[in-house]
Amino acid sequence: MNAVISQRWWKEAVVYQIYPRSFMDGNGDGTGDIPGIIERLDYLKDLGVDVLWLCPIFPSPNDDNGYDISDYQGILSDFGTMADFDNLLEQAHQRGLRILLDLVVNHSSDEHPWFTESRSSKDNPKRDWYIWRDGKPNGAPPNNWASIFSGPAWEYDDASGQYFLHLFSRKQPDLNWENAEMRQAVYQMVRWWLDKGVDGFRIDAITHIRKEPGFPDLPNPKHLAAVPSHEMHRNKDGILEYISDLCANTFAHYDVMTVGEANGVNVEQAADWVGEDQGRFNMLFQFEQLKLWGSDGNADLDLPKLKQTLTRWQKGLEGNGWNALFVENHDIPRITSTWGNTEQYWRESATAIALMYFMMQGTPFIYQGQELGMTNHPFTALDQFDDVAARNQIAEWRAEGRSDADMLADLLSSSRDNARTPMQWSSEFNAGFTIGKPWLAINPNHQWLNAEDQADDPNSVLNFYKAMIRMRRAEPTLVYGTYDLVLEDDAQVYAYTRSGEEDAFVVLCNLSDADWHGDLGVATPAETGLCLSNYADAAEQPADRLRPWEARLYRL
Ligand code: NOJ
Repeated sequence: MNAVISQRWWKEAVVYQIYPRSFMDGNGDGTGDIPGIIERLDYLKDLGVDVLWLCPIFPSPNDDNGYDISDYQGILSDFGTMADFDNLLEQAHQRGLRILLDLVVNHSSDEHPWFTESRSSKDNPKRDWYIWRDGKPNGAPPNNWASIFSGPAWEYDDASGQYFLHLFSRKQPDLNWENAEMRQAVYQMVRWWLDKGVDGFRIDAITHIRKEPGFPDLPNPKHLAAVPSHEMHRNKDGILEYISDLCANTFAHYDVMTVGEANGVNVEQAADWVGEDQGRFNMLFQFEQLKLWGSDGNADLDLPKLKQTLTRWQKGLEGNGWNALFVENHDIPRITSTWGNTEQYWRESATAIALMYFMMQGTPFIYQGQELGMTNHPFTALDQFDDVAARNQIAEWRAEGRSDADMLADLLSSSRDNARTPMQWSSEFNAGFTIGKPWLAINPNHQWLNAEDQADDPNSVLNFYKAMIRMRRAEPTLVYGTYDLVLEDDAQVYAYTRSGEEDAFVVLCNLSDADWHGDLGVATPAETGLCLSNYADAAEQPADRLRPWEARLYRL
């Protein structure tokens, strides 16, 4: 085993991401809530995960489903009360489950009292907690930057005659990280949660907190109304000073897990963010792999490219950082729909993709429902989309003259709502999620795709996830061992080894609809070494032959 890799609880953990609105409804109002999560703690314990990351649970007008926070130290009433949260924390801890919260401090809601004060007048003491600028002499916004959710990144405020910056929706004004008082208020809030006993944070959109000084216009040869502006505010020079300041004032004093959402950080820069001697974050959600999903969510899987990308991160952080391993979250369509084959090989493709990422070096994250192989939703009309990004996109496309059918086709494979439909607990009414009217449509395939049925089926996706988690827990080499890619150029099979001082494993995943037969590039594993597979009769098959979407883990 690599001696320079330190052992930490958060490296050995498996994290489960909960989208509270869609996880479990405890009070029958159609919206998931904290009592619902408590009801399902035993399911999560039985699955074998160690840490629960809750997407935002704080008071919010829900323009962006909780990523627009109006009170950082409260609980959204739809989700319950602070007493419910305290109960969740206690019940989770009793079962050995830890809780991560979502820290959303690139922006707040425009309904946060900080912003209400800030907008109240130009000389309010909190004016500078947000980013206010005069418009151009002709009244146009201060610059031509676009919001990540479509349209201009500036909103005009009648009362004071200035614009405020919002990189996301107009109800998510950006906080001004240059303001030291604002930063102290954020740190105080973070410490308050840590003192309450939460076990860490996933840190939202954190690579956007520093903006290009001077807020210059971008070149605009296409004469767009607003120009996509990532290079003006994503991972800008100087941002690490803010990150160091945040960490030194908060996380550094607690034994917690931190994972930053890191759009724009490449692997060469990653060690500055997560290097163990840097005192910043523990892990990053990197976005390079997300580019392979294609911006329309519909890209064919380019396997050699995926291997290059993930291997670059595996080797790039080896011995000097730690990877967050993930293939799904609440912002991307379901992986089995994007890359698998939901028609012919639904179960096989869901499990093959799972094994592919789960045994790498890093901490695996599972997004709710992924462990069941949940799929994209068969939306049939544009008014069924809830997400602010989709709604803004539809308005923009409509103005460009796109047809409804065309927009629907696009959103069917790209919308974030695909991942946000309620959890499928059973084949019963509303999938066992609620007795009320669900806030977002439930996938009709819950009749055959649900947790209850899968619990009883030894070959189910759910039981495959349980087996993977058990393997990682039992084998330190699968946590700390060195990763090496084999079959580098093969376009069908993702294969890699994990090697420790005393043992080694090989992971073989055929990520295609066709049979595969070839030279493995490592000593052929003995059939008796088979630890895990997604075809029931794999033990009788030679290791160098894989059927469509067949995945196996062998001890070498
Ligand atoms: C990333 C979050 O994951 C996403 O859901 C949200 O819309 C944006 N950040 C803005 O907070």
